[in-house]
Amino acid sequence: MSLFSIDQKKCKRDGICAAECPAQIIVQADKKSFPSLLPHGEEFCINCGHCVAVCPHDAITLSTMPLAACPPIERNILPNADALKQLLLARRSIRQYKKTPVSNKLLTELIDTARYAPTGSNKQQVSWMVFQKPEDVHKLAAQVIDFMKMMLPVTTDEATVRRFQRIVNAWDNGRDRIMRGAPHLIVVHSPSDLSFPAADCAIALTYLELYASTKGLGTCWAGYFTAAAGLHEPLIQVLNLPAGHQCFGAVMLGYPQYRYHRIPTRNEPLITWR
Ligand SMILES: Cc1cc2nc3c(=O)[nH]c(=O)nc-3n(C[C@H](O)[C@H](O)[C@H](O)COP(=O)(O)O)c2cc1C
Repeated sequence: MSLFSIDQKKCKRDGICAAECPAQIIVQADKKSFPSLLPHGEEFCINCGHCVAVCPHDAITLSTMPLAACPPIERNILPNADALKQLLLARRSIRQYKKTPVSNKLLTELIDTARYAPTGSNKQQVSWMVFQKPEDVHKLAAQVIDFMKMMLPVTTDEATVRRFQRIVNAWDNGRDRIMRGAPHLIVVHSPSDLSFPAADCAIALTYLELYASTKGLGTCWAGYFTAAAGLHEPLIQVLNLPAGHQCFGAVMLGYPQYRYHRIPTRNEPLITWR
Protein backbone atom coordinates (compact mmCIF):
# COMPACT_ATOMS: atom_id res chain seq x y z
CA MET A 1 0.00 0.00 0.00
CA SER A 2 1.36 3.42 -0.88
CA LEU A 3 1.88 5.94 1.91
CA PHE A 4 -0.68 8.47 0.68
CA SER A 5 -4.05 7.67 -0.79
CA ILE A 6 -6.94 9.86 -1.82
CA ASP A 7 -10.57 8.87 -1.88
CA GLN A 8 -11.51 10.52 -5.15
CA LYS A 9 -15.21 10.34 -4.29
CA LYS A 10 -14.66 12.47 -1.20
CA CYS A 11 -11.88 14.80 -2.39
CA LYS A 12 -13.12 18.28 -3.40
CA ARG A 13 -9.76 19.22 -4.95
CA ASP A 14 -9.60 22.29 -2.68
CA GLY A 15 -5.78 22.07 -2.46
CA ILE A 16 -5.73 22.43 1.34
CA CYS A 17 -3.61 19.31 1.94
CA ALA A 18 -0.99 20.46 -0.60
CA ALA A 19 -0.90 23.95 0.91
CA GLU A 20 -0.55 22.66 4.47
CA CYS A 21 1.98 19.84 3.95
CA PRO A 22 5.10 21.05 5.82
CA ALA A 23 7.44 19.03 3.59
CA GLN A 24 5.64 20.18 0.42
CA ILE A 25 5.49 16.67 -0.91
CA ILE A 26 1.78 16.81 -1.80
CA VAL A 27 1.19 18.44 -5.15
CA GLN A 28 -1.87 19.42 -7.11
CA ALA A 29 -1.24 20.58 -10.66
CA ASP A 30 -4.49 22.55 -10.99
CA LYS A 31 -7.98 22.73 -9.55
CA LYS A 32 -9.15 19.93 -11.84
CA SER A 33 -6.53 17.40 -10.69
CA PHE A 34 -6.47 15.38 -7.52
CA PRO A 35 -3.59 15.96 -5.14
CA SER A 36 -0.86 13.33 -5.18
CA LEU A 37 2.47 12.59 -3.59
CA LEU A 38 5.64 13.77 -5.35
CA PRO A 39 7.87 10.94 -6.64
CA HIS A 40 10.02 9.83 -3.68
CA GLY A 41 7.81 11.98 -1.45
CA GLU A 42 7.80 9.19 1.15
CA GLU A 43 11.45 9.93 1.87
CA PHE A 44 10.61 13.44 3.02
CA CYS A 45 7.33 12.75 4.81
CA ILE A 46 7.68 13.51 8.54
CA ASN A 47 4.47 11.61 9.31
CA CYS A 48 2.92 14.62 11.00
CA GLY A 49 -0.57 13.68 9.75
CA HIS A 50 -1.42 17.27 8.84
CA CYS A 51 -2.84 16.18 5.48
CA VAL A 52 -5.20 13.73 7.19
CA ALA A 53 -6.10 16.18 9.95
CA VAL A 54 -6.70 19.25 7.79
CA CYS A 55 -8.87 17.67 5.09
CA PRO A 56 -12.48 18.74 5.78
CA HIS A 57 -13.79 15.80 3.74
CA ASP A 58 -11.93 12.84 5.29
CA ALA A 59 -10.54 12.15 1.84
CA ILE A 60 -6.95 11.32 2.79
CA THR A 61 -5.46 8.20 4.30
CA LEU A 62 -1.85 7.64 5.19
CA SER A 63 -0.82 4.00 5.43
CA THR A 64 0.91 4.93 8.70
CA MET A 65 -2.14 6.71 10.09
CA PRO A 66 -5.61 5.27 9.52
CA LEU A 67 -8.42 7.81 9.70
CA ALA A 68 -10.04 5.79 12.47
CA ALA A 69 -6.99 6.50 14.67
CA CYS A 70 -7.47 10.26 14.16
CA PRO A 71 -10.55 11.32 16.15
CA PRO A 72 -12.44 14.46 15.17
CA ILE A 73 -11.64 17.61 17.19
CA GLU A 74 -14.33 18.29 19.80
CA ARG A 75 -14.45 22.06 19.47
CA ASN A 76 -17.31 22.35 21.98
CA ILE A 77 -15.00 21.28 24.83
CA LEU A 78 -11.93 23.32 23.89
CA PRO A 79 -11.08 25.82 26.65
CA ASN A 80 -11.73 29.44 25.72
CA ALA A 81 -8.91 32.01 25.84
CA ASP A 82 -9.79 33.18 29.36
CA ALA A 83 -9.87 29.62 30.72
CA LEU A 84 -6.56 28.69 29.15
CA LYS A 85 -4.89 31.92 30.23
CA GLN A 86 -6.08 31.40 33.81
CA LEU A 87 -4.67 27.86 33.75
CA LEU A 88 -1.29 29.13 32.51
CA LEU A 89 -1.13 31.93 35.07
CA ALA A 90 -2.40 29.85 38.00
CA ARG A 91 -0.02 26.89 37.58
CA ARG A 92 2.65 26.89 40.28
CA SER A 93 5.68 24.79 41.05
CA ILE A 94 4.61 22.62 43.96
CA ARG A 95 7.07 21.81 46.73
CA GLN A 96 4.88 20.30 49.43
CA TYR A 97 3.16 17.03 48.63
CA LYS A 98 0.66 14.74 50.27
CA LYS A 99 1.74 11.14 50.71
CA THR A 100 -1.25 9.95 48.64
CA PRO A 101 0.10 8.06 45.65
CA VAL A 102 -0.94 8.95 42.12
CA SER A 103 -2.50 5.97 40.37
CA ASN A 104 -0.66 4.26 37.58
CA LYS A 105 -3.71 4.92 35.39
CA LEU A 106 -3.46 8.67 35.92
CA LEU A 107 0.31 8.72 35.43
CA THR A 108 -0.23 6.86 32.16
CA GLU A 109 -2.92 9.32 31.08
CA LEU A 110 -0.59 12.27 31.74
CA ILE A 111 2.10 10.80 29.52
CA ASP A 112 -0.43 9.73 26.94
CA THR A 113 -1.49 13.38 26.66
CA ALA A 114 2.04 14.83 26.73
CA ARG A 115 3.03 12.73 23.72
CA TYR A 116 0.99 15.17 21.59
CA ALA A 117 3.53 17.93 22.32
CA PRO A 118 5.37 19.20 19.23
CA THR A 119 8.82 17.81 18.46
CA GLY A 120 11.46 19.03 15.99
CA SER A 121 10.70 17.46 12.57
CA ASN A 122 8.01 15.44 14.36
CA LYS A 123 10.69 13.02 15.57
CA GLN A 124 8.66 11.97 18.64
CA GLN A 125 11.70 10.54 20.34
CA VAL A 126 10.88 11.70 23.85
CA SER A 127 11.07 8.70 26.20
CA TRP A 128 9.71 8.58 29.72
CA MET A 129 10.93 6.99 32.91
CA VAL A 130 8.51 7.00 35.82
CA PHE A 131 9.75 6.50 39.35
CA GLN A 132 6.58 5.35 41.06
CA LYS A 133 7.87 4.50 44.52
CA PRO A 134 8.46 7.35 46.99
CA GLU A 135 11.41 5.47 48.51
CA ASP A 136 13.12 5.34 45.09
CA VAL A 137 12.54 9.07 44.57
CA HIS A 138 14.10 9.66 47.98
CA LYS A 139 17.10 7.51 47.02
CA LEU A 140 17.58 9.60 43.86
CA ALA A 141 17.51 12.74 46.00
CA ALA A 142 20.18 11.22 48.25
CA GLN A 143 22.35 10.55 45.20
CA VAL A 144 22.03 14.17 44.08
CA ILE A 145 23.10 15.22 47.59
CA ASP A 146 26.12 12.87 47.33
CA PHE A 147 26.94 14.58 44.03
CA MET A 148 26.71 18.03 45.63
CA LYS A 149 28.94 16.90 48.52
CA MET A 150 31.47 15.67 45.95
CA MET A 151 31.32 18.92 44.01
CA LEU A 152 31.54 21.28 46.98
CA PRO A 153 35.31 21.06 47.58
CA VAL A 154 36.10 21.53 43.87
CA THR A 155 33.56 24.23 43.02
CA THR A 156 35.05 27.71 42.69
CA ASP A 157 31.88 29.71 42.05
CA GLU A 158 30.98 31.31 45.39
CA ALA A 159 27.24 31.52 44.75
CA THR A 160 27.02 27.85 43.74
CA VAL A 161 29.00 26.80 46.82
CA ARG A 162 26.67 28.75 49.09
CA ARG A 163 23.57 27.33 47.37
CA PHE A 164 24.81 23.73 47.44
CA GLN A 165 25.89 24.09 51.06
CA ARG A 166 22.43 25.27 52.11
CA ILE A 167 20.78 22.38 50.25
CA VAL A 168 23.16 19.84 51.78
CA ASN A 169 22.66 21.33 55.27
CA ALA A 170 18.89 21.13 54.80
CA TRP A 171 19.20 17.47 53.79
CA ASP A 172 21.33 16.73 56.84
CA ASN A 173 18.58 18.32 58.91
CA GLY A 174 15.91 16.14 57.33
CA ARG A 175 14.62 18.55 54.64
CA ASP A 176 14.67 17.40 51.04
CA ARG A 177 15.22 20.35 48.72
CA ILE A 178 16.02 18.07 45.77
CA MET A 179 12.76 16.14 45.37
CA ARG A 180 10.76 18.06 47.98
CA GLY A 181 9.36 14.82 49.38
CA ALA A 182 7.39 14.21 46.17
CA PRO A 183 6.07 10.65 45.85
CA HIS A 184 6.87 10.36 42.13
CA LEU A 185 9.41 11.54 39.60
CA ILE A 186 8.89 11.65 35.85
CA VAL A 187 12.09 11.78 33.81
CA VAL A 188 12.33 12.54 30.09
CA HIS A 189 15.18 11.39 27.92
CA SER A 190 15.88 11.40 24.23
CA PRO A 191 18.66 10.66 21.75
CA SER A 192 21.04 13.60 22.11
CA ASP A 193 21.86 13.75 18.40
CA LEU A 194 18.43 15.02 17.31
CA SER A 195 18.01 18.61 16.14
CA PHE A 196 16.24 19.85 19.27
CA PRO A 197 16.22 17.14 21.95
CA ALA A 198 16.23 19.58 24.89
CA ALA A 199 13.32 21.57 23.47
CA ASP A 200 11.38 18.38 22.62
CA CYS A 201 11.74 17.13 26.19
CA ALA A 202 11.01 20.48 27.84
CA ILE A 203 7.86 21.01 25.81
CA ALA A 204 6.66 17.47 26.55
CA LEU A 205 7.16 18.04 30.28
CA THR A 206 5.38 21.37 30.02
CA TYR A 207 2.39 19.69 28.41
CA LEU A 208 2.46 17.12 31.20
CA GLU A 209 2.71 19.76 33.94
CA LEU A 210 -0.18 21.78 32.59
CA TYR A 211 -2.42 18.78 32.08
CA ALA A 212 -1.46 17.45 35.53
CA SER A 213 -2.60 20.73 37.08
CA THR A 214 -6.08 20.21 35.61
CA LYS A 215 -6.17 16.82 37.34
CA GLY A 216 -5.53 18.33 40.76
CA LEU A 217 -1.87 17.30 40.71
CA GLY A 218 1.21 19.34 41.51
CA THR A 219 4.55 19.24 39.75
CA CYS A 220 7.94 20.90 40.01
CA TRP A 221 10.95 20.68 37.75
CA ALA A 222 13.77 18.71 39.35
CA GLY A 223 16.62 20.89 38.07
CA TYR A 224 19.36 19.67 40.41
CA PHE A 225 18.47 16.08 39.59
CA THR A 226 18.52 16.84 35.85
CA ALA A 227 21.95 18.45 36.10
CA ALA A 228 23.38 15.57 38.14
CA ALA A 229 21.72 12.90 35.98
CA GLY A 230 24.31 13.20 33.24
CA LEU A 231 27.34 13.81 35.48
CA HIS A 232 27.13 11.61 38.56
CA GLU A 233 28.17 8.04 37.78
CA PRO A 234 25.92 6.32 40.37
CA LEU A 235 22.91 8.21 38.98
CA ILE A 236 23.91 7.41 35.41
CA GLN A 237 23.93 3.75 36.42
CA VAL A 238 20.55 3.87 38.13
CA LEU A 239 18.95 5.58 35.13
CA ASN A 240 20.63 3.19 32.72
CA LEU A 241 19.40 5.14 29.69
CA PRO A 242 19.61 3.62 26.21
CA ALA A 243 22.89 4.26 24.38
CA GLY A 244 23.01 7.78 22.93
CA HIS A 245 20.22 9.06 25.18
CA GLN A 246 20.49 11.96 27.56
CA CYS A 247 18.19 13.06 30.37
CA PHE A 248 16.84 16.49 29.45
CA GLY A 249 14.47 17.05 32.33
CA ALA A 250 12.42 15.66 35.17
CA VAL A 251 9.45 16.73 37.24
CA MET A 252 8.43 15.76 40.74
CA LEU A 253 4.76 14.94 40.92
CA GLY A 254 2.09 14.30 43.52
CA TYR A 255 -1.01 15.75 45.14
CA PRO A 256 -0.28 19.23 46.50
CA GLN A 257 -0.42 19.77 50.24
CA TYR A 258 -1.56 23.39 49.87
CA ARG A 259 -3.61 25.39 47.43
CA TYR A 260 -2.48 28.70 45.93
CA HIS A 261 -4.92 31.61 46.04
CA ARG A 262 -3.22 34.34 44.04
CA ILE A 263 -1.13 34.80 40.94
CA PRO A 264 2.30 36.23 41.80
CA THR A 265 3.78 39.00 39.66
CA ARG A 266 6.35 38.28 36.98
CA ASN A 267 8.86 40.52 35.21
CA GLU A 268 7.58 42.61 32.36
CA PRO A 269 8.49 40.86 29.09
CA LEU A 270 11.66 42.03 27.39
CA ILE A 271 10.51 42.58 23.83
CA THR A 272 12.34 44.02 20.90
CA TRP A 273 9.80 45.09 18.30
CA ARG A 274 11.34 45.31 14.86
C1 LIG B 1 14.45 24.12 34.17
C2 LIG B 1 13.90 24.33 35.56
C3 LIG B 1 14.52 23.76 36.65
C4 LIG B 1 13.99 23.90 37.93
N1 LIG B 1 14.56 23.25 38.97
C5 LIG B 1 14.00 23.33 40.20
C6 LIG B 1 14.53 22.58 41.30
O1 LIG B 1 15.50 21.83 41.16
N2 LIG B 1 13.92 22.70 42.50
C7 LIG B 1 12.84 23.51 42.69
O2 LIG B 1 12.33 23.57 43.80
N3 LIG B 1 12.31 24.23 41.67
C8 LIG B 1 12.85 24.15 40.43
N4 LIG B 1 12.30 24.83 39.38
C9 LIG B 1 11.09 25.63 39.58
C10 LIG B 1 11.36 27.14 39.52
O3 LIG B 1 12.04 27.55 40.66
C11 LIG B 1 10.00 27.84 39.35
O4 LIG B 1 9.49 27.54 38.08
C12 LIG B 1 10.08 29.34 39.51
O5 LIG B 1 10.50 29.69 40.79
C13 LIG B 1 8.75 30.00 39.22
O6 LIG B 1 7.72 29.48 40.03
P1 LIG B 1 6.41 28.88 39.36
O7 LIG B 1 6.82 27.69 38.54
O8 LIG B 1 5.50 28.53 40.47
O9 LIG B 1 5.84 29.95 38.46
C14 LIG B 1 12.81 24.69 38.10
C15 LIG B 1 12.20 25.26 37.00
C16 LIG B 1 12.71 25.07 35.74
C17 LIG B 1 11.98 25.66 34.56
